[in-house]
Amino acid sequence: MAFSLTGKQQEELEELSSKVADLLMSYHSSLADNDNRGKRVAKFKAELIKKIITNPRGHKMDIVPGPLTYIEDLFGTRASTHSMESERFIDAYSSAKAISNWGRDIRWRCYTVCWAAEHAMNIEGDFIEFGVDRGGLSTAVISYTNFEKTDKNFFLVDTYQGLVEDYISEKEQELNIVADGRYPDCWDEVSNRFSKYDNVKPIRGAVPDVLPEIENLDKVSYCSIDMNCAAPEVAALEYVWPKLSNGGLIIFDDYGFPKHQVQRDSLDEIASGFGRSIYTLPTGQGLLVK
Ligand SMILES: C[S@@+](CC[C@H](N)C(=O)[O-])C[C@H]1O[C@@H](n2cnc3c(N)ncnc32)[C@H](O)[C@@H]1O
Repeated sequence: MAFSLTGKQQEELEELSSKVADLLMSYHSSLADNDNRGKRVAKFKAELIKKIITNPRGHKMDIVPGPLTYIEDLFGTRASTHSMESERFIDAYSSAKAISNWGRDIRWRCYTVCWAAEHAMNIEGDFIEFGVDRGGLSTAVISYTNFEKTDKNFFLVDTYQGLVEDYISEKEQELNIVADGRYPDCWDEVSNRFSKYDNVKPIRGAVPDVLPEIENLDKVSYCSIDMNCAAPEVAALEYVWPKLSNGGLIIFDDYGFPKHQVQRDSLDEIASGFGRSIYTLPTGQGLLVK
């Protein structure tokens, strides 16, 4: 049966959703008085919620009807979220979120890396993450795969104190990619956190300078690249690709994000030199498989 509202019902719905949006805005504004980013995000969320309420069948009439099952981070969908409802994933996600610097929920992105890591468990080679910060995604992967029980190593490479100014191109600076203190020094915290695992190895230094210090890494089955900056991401990709086993994969965290166009263009160029292309996920992540 076609879903339709009378003109009056539509008006009432719009009035109600405006109130919800206003409430959300005032709640977020009081939380983040001096935080412009917080306000922009709150406004975006409020507008999105208003759209969803007033267009229950979707913005375009040719999309699959039904309720949204997921809406956070970069996208909303009606696809099944069953894979994110397992106890194993919920545990992995909550331990990761609790220690992370994410500032918002990123369940689907986290599910992607967990899935990729589980896939890579069956492939020869170690795990490596470039861009670790406090270890949110790596914590999820370790928990989800029971990593301490494997004979693989997990290398965690980061400055552990944010982006490196010299590696940010002019074009990226224009897109507001800056070394701005968003990632305060977390080396002690991270090395303590992972010291209980014999096979998890945090390595401190700037990519690409630190790459020669990574010892005993011949083969890779899982790689996550999340440094928010083109030059080190390109260097990480060029470093890992020859070591990646067939069937091994690389997840680029920010690949499809509008702000990270410079990264995307640079990574695409390198991937095409390998005769491959990076797959864009609706989460904004990129996936490259060997
Ligand atoms: C978005 S955060 C990573 C978030 C992390 N994957 C998580 O799960 O929470 C980006 C990280 O990249 C690191 N980074 C940026 N440029 C780097 C470089 N040239 N070398 C090493 N680390 C870098 C920063 O220190 C920061 O911790």
